[in-house]
Amino acid sequence: MPNIPTDSCDATTITREGRSYLSFGGCNYLGLAHHPRVVRAVQDAATVYGLSSSASRETTGNARPHAQLESELTSFCDHEAGLLVPDGYTANLAALQGLEHLDIKHALIDARAHASLKDAARLAGMEIHLYEHLDPEDAQRVIGLLDSPCVILTDSVFTTNGDLAPARDLLGVLRERDWLLLDDCHGFAVLGNQGRGMPNAVRLKSDRLIVTTTLAKGLGCAGGIVMGPSVPVESARANSIAYRCTTPASPPLVSGGLEALRILREDKNIHERIAKAISLTRATLRASGIESHDHDSAIFAFTLGDLEQMRQIEQSMYERGIILPLMDYPNGPAPMYFRLSVNASHTREQIEFFGDTLNEVLALHPLRETPSHEHAQ
Ligand SMILES: Cc1ncc(COP(=O)(O)O)c(C=O)c1O
Repeated sequence: MPNIPTDSCDATTITREGRSYLSFGGCNYLGLAHHPRVVRAVQDAATVYGLSSSASRETTGNARPHAQLESELTSFCDHEAGLLVPDGYTANLAALQGLEHLDIKHALIDARAHASLKDAARLAGMEIHLYEHLDPEDAQRVIGLLDSPCVILTDSVFTTNGDLAPARDLLGVLRERDWLLLDDCHGFAVLGNQGRGMPNAVRLKSDRLIVTTTLAKGLGCAGGIVMGPSVPVESARANSIAYRCTTPASPPLVSGGLEALRILREDKNIHERIAKAISLTRATLRASGIESHDHDSAIFAFTLGDLEQMRQIEQSMYERGIILPLMDYPNGPAPMYFRLSVNASHTREQIEFFGDTLNEVLALHPLRETPSHEHAQ
């Protein structure tokens, strides 16, 4: 389908060319990008700070909200140190530039990790090695071939299909001076106690663990952060060009992030709402004959028949007012696949409407191949 720009949106609907669509895309997992308190915080801060701090945080661009969000997020996620950077892409790069300065020359990357991790390793000048997706034994095999310390890099919750990384087992294969970096862009704000992220959800604590995340998805604002022990984080602060020579996220958006973090702490129901949306979506997909994962990620990936059929299904859903994104986003389960995501604002009625519409559309386009949940590759 053509990439038609959005004219306006809220957490579950998108208006394009004068028509409103129910959307099952994106990563606004808690609906915070549209929360009235967050939007108000952004508006208020714009009158105090203007729109851009217009300089690196290390020169004149460090506004109060930057320092505050850096320290609040770091203590919320229970890390020793944190570094707020412009976005999630930069967070991975800053973390690796910091590690490179500590003489880490090898990056061991899950074969299906987010593309930014590979870019970060390359730009930090590290030698890149891939291990089989979700396979700590293969990671251990590759580590055995290295003659100097390395960092293992993986999504915590995989962007394209919601797989969970075997984080504890990966920690288990580290040698004395190795590190594990978890990119928690799709776990933070969603998983763990009050959204503290995937490491919190699986009770992972280690002095060899570094966590990066974006603030543009679950928190609904903008920015990125590197968190972990002081040594690597402070090395990133001191040495990363990606941090030192870039303008931070806009102070109003960072103020919105602070308000979103307050909501995470205060709203006792927000995680219950997303959990309900996830389990209803899972049941709805299964009722349509589509297998799905069994865990708490809000991302579902699957293929339906061949490419031509998938294009027809996407189009037919769209004509009926539903956006079910068909994509070739890198490192996904198939060259082209559906990536459906739900958020805490999706209602039971909306998900049921999705299920009814999907069944109607599938009846119109009988599949030439059985539906494939991402794992059945
Ligand atoms: C796993 C992962 N890491 C990093 C990023 C980059 O984050 P940002 O968009 O804030 O640069 C994304 C997506 O955008 C992502 O999905």
